[in-house]
Amino acid sequence: MNKNGTEQTSEKKGCPGVDHLEPCTIVIFGASGDLTGRKLIPALFQMFVKKSLPRQFNIVGCARTPHSHEGFRDTLHQFDPENFSQYDKKWLEFAGHIFYQPMLYDTIESYKELALFLAEIDTKSNTQGNRIFDLAVPPHLYPLISKMLGEAGLAQENTGRNGWSRIIIEKPFGHDLKSARELQSTLEQDFKEEQIYRIDHYLAKETVQNILTFRFANAIFEPLWNRSYIDYVGIMAAEKLGVENRAGYYEQAGVVRDMFQNHMLQLLSLIAMESPSHFEADCVRDEKTKVFRSLRHFAERPGEDLILGQYGPGSIDEKSVPGYRQEKGVGINSLTATFAMMRLFVDNWRWQGVPFYLVSGKRLAQKETKIVIQFKKVPHTMFHNVLEKKISANRLILGIYPEEEIKLTFQTKKPGPKICLSPMTMDFKYEENYPGAGLDAYEKVLLDCILGDQMLFWRRDGVELAWSLVTPILHDCETCAGREQQLHLYEAGGWGPYAAKEWMERLINP
Ligand code: BG6
Repeated sequence: MNKNGTEQTSEKKGCPGVDHLEPCTIVIFGASGDLTGRKLIPALFQMFVKKSLPRQFNIVGCARTPHSHEGFRDTLHQFDPENFSQYDKKWLEFAGHIFYQPMLYDTIESYKELALFLAEIDTKSNTQGNRIFDLAVPPHLYPLISKMLGEAGLAQENTGRNGWSRIIIEKPFGHDLKSARELQSTLEQDFKEEQIYRIDHYLAKETVQNILTFRFANAIFEPLWNRSYIDYVGIMAAEKLGVENRAGYYEQAGVVRDMFQNHMLQLLSLIAMESPSHFEADCVRDEKTKVFRSLRHFAERPGEDLILGQYGPGSIDEKSVPGYRQEKGVGINSLTATFAMMRLFVDNWRWQGVPFYLVSGKRLAQKETKIVIQFKKVPHTMFHNVLEKKISANRLILGIYPEEEIKLTFQTKKPGPKICLSPMTMDFKYEENYPGAGLDAYEKVLLDCILGDQMLFWRRDGVELAWSLVTPILHDCETCAGREQQLHLYEAGGWGPYAAKEWMERLINP
């Protein structure tokens, strides 16, 4: 029984874990970097604690810095000692599976030594030659490492000592369409598409995965999910944080490459796609690809459908914060956008004429990630004689952060002798119903990669279609004459530039 006294059905009690995981070795390039210490190792450790790693596994860190195995384990422990020391005994057990191999990324000898070391630990721990190469390195190194892995025979599958071989990369997958294609052609010289895992951590968030369940495991929403009933869709990923210590990357990327070419378009595709025929990676990705193909490209004057901004000084949580141009590593005249709002249209039968507003920005008032489905108003109101104000339309919110929730707002009659209407919200909160059940996004992607399930990873065609949408506007914004005028400054701690106010109001206020 739960706290409301109702019996939990067996469907609600929980989801069985994974039965069988093949043994494998996870090789992390960029082992001394932040991504390894802050995300990958904590995720792998949690998987170990939750028993969602294979019984036989190894983790091999690779980087330029010389370390012994023991020395490397100590550096990892220091990343998050508080969290790890709660489980001191477990950590020691886990650390016994971690090794270190110093590497020069541009030297083939290093890869040959790595191959020998992998073969040696395969034999010792019976990991059967199955390997994941996780490239937690700056993206300009992807082509080099992939090529070298190929030359050293590490990309080959089911030959000699090799079992399967998979490569993980994280966005940005290139800088524009041309460079994305170049990266792809290097990767595919040695790895087949089935071996390439392109992470988008948004897809691994529980509430994002739930979009498909919500839409396609319930019959009541789908009939309304189209231009006849939906007025607009809003997708918002607002952040309080600024650029932090990532100016080197961000100055080259800006918000469109950092958030839109990947996360935001993935969210849009989940809302707009048709039902896949099977819950299988390629069926799902085929449907997403159709959405990307149906996106209307920006007109010659993207200004009408795109607002770009950059944060100036302001205050967050009552503390003064510097503007983007005052951040460490950012040029004093930088024209990099830290905020963007786009209006997109999906040109197909279902969505014709329905605007999709996508907004993301740094140093906004709150960290909030959500999808708003705004339904149309009632076509006729029989209450117009007795009501002073208009009836607000139904709204469905799929909350991703801070609340993982689903909220549906509808009208009710307030008790009393007169007709008074009031909107009420039905609210389903994940944490209340499934306390502590979710997997962290990195746990989920690593688990899926071990399982060989590519559903939550970008496929080559999707990457290229997403670039083909944003590349023309990026080139336009980055080369146009009045670039400075197109970039609207906004105060840190607010809701973005004044120019975006009207669109923003549709998303922040009910
Ligand atoms: C990353 C971006 O992909 O996503 C960051 O590079 C951004 O700039 C982050 O802050 C946001 O992710 P989340 O999960 O905190 O919403």
